[in-house]
Amino acid sequence: MRVARRAEIAPFYVMEVMKAAANRARAGGDVLHLEVGQPSTAAPRAVLDAAARALTSDRLGYTDATGIGELRERIARHYSEHYGVAVEPERVIVTMGASGGFALAFLALFDVGDRVAVAQPGYPCYRNVLEAFGVEAVPIPVGPSTRFVPTAELLEAAGPLQGLVLASPANPTGTALRRRELVEIVDYCRTTGTTLVADEIYHGIEYVPLVPTALAVDPNVVVLQSFSKYFSMTGWRLGWMVVPTELVRPVERLAQNLFISPPTLSQLAAIAAFDAADELEANVARYAANRQLLIDGLGAVGLDHFASPDGAFYFYIDVAHLTDDSQALCRTWLDELGVAATPGIDFDPVAGHRYVRLSYSESTDDIAAATDRIADWVQTRGAG
Ligand SMILES: Cc1ncc(COP(=O)(O)O)c(C=O)c1O
Repeated sequence: MRVARRAEIAPFYVMEVMKAAANRARAGGDVLHLEVGQPSTAAPRAVLDAAARALTSDRLGYTDATGIGELRERIARHYSEHYGVAVEPERVIVTMGASGGFALAFLALFDVGDRVAVAQPGYPCYRNVLEAFGVEAVPIPVGPSTRFVPTAELLEAAGPLQGLVLASPANPTGTALRRRELVEIVDYCRTTGTTLVADEIYHGIEYVPLVPTALAVDPNVVVLQSFSKYFSMTGWRLGWMVVPTELVRPVERLAQNLFISPPTLSQLAAIAAFDAADELEANVARYAANRQLLIDGLGAVGLDHFASPDGAFYFYIDVAHLTDDSQALCRTWLDELGVAATPGIDFDPVAGHRYVRLSYSESTDDIAAATDRIADWVQTRGAG
């Protein structure tokens, strides 16, 4: 059968590692999951209750393509309550996760042949989806010298750009842009006519004082957000975008044609998520404890070269002194230690063979066990 060139999209290797880990578990092996970036908790109680009520009381038909009005209003209120930023509910578009938001944003903003910058290392689906849409994903190599975040100088060196996709806190590094860094990038985008798409999916999971939203710096950026991470609702497949007024109708038309509407049950339930701070902050406290366990445990055996873990639940660790093939290292850790980790090549096809990403979203017991196993391995086998 004829398969379109755009279907030659690269795999999302995290999913491949998950498959290998699942195979090991099926064969009776134990697995500690440090490969996957998803909360180990269910949705907050109030969300589950709202979903149960909606199941029996609501018809659960299609909604407006841009989402239920009450949810859009609640999301807009979140911006004024949490950031002190005014967002009109009409500029909020509910999506099928941040992933649904990428598709809508990239189609609404970029034409075939446009050049859109993405950080390298960065979330692989940006470049894969852009390329599948015929948009050139222009890698911006970032590393320890710029705290793994792009700078105006690096963007300048990439030549003319129509767009920039930027995550803060980022995946795989966890690094968040300081306000000064964000302002520099927003200014660069404004003066060069580069559209900024800010992926703020990890907001709320933060270990440094309030990570700024790009909307506080410029109301004309496109922001992507999600209920998947802080709100602990990955499988509910729900997120949102905040877009400038002139983009609302184009995105709405695309959403009508592509998705009809986001999942109704999830939308009805998600309204309650904003009032579940106690539960959600307890999750963040657990991530913070896990993060400290890894810093202490891995630091003690010299695994202490990693990007600044300001937020999210990832360490992006330089393992160059252990291997020049992080994929092989991850296979060894899975086979010998039962620890699933993700090789850096998912996030950076060039330098990623020297890096491993560890996710610490699972239970503290699991993270403690994984830290011990990796530390033992590094001490006994790592040097050889
Ligand atoms: C940076 C980043 N953006 C977007 C996504 C996709 O999230 P969603 O579940 O909202 O589609 C992820 C998932 O891991 C991510 O890490």
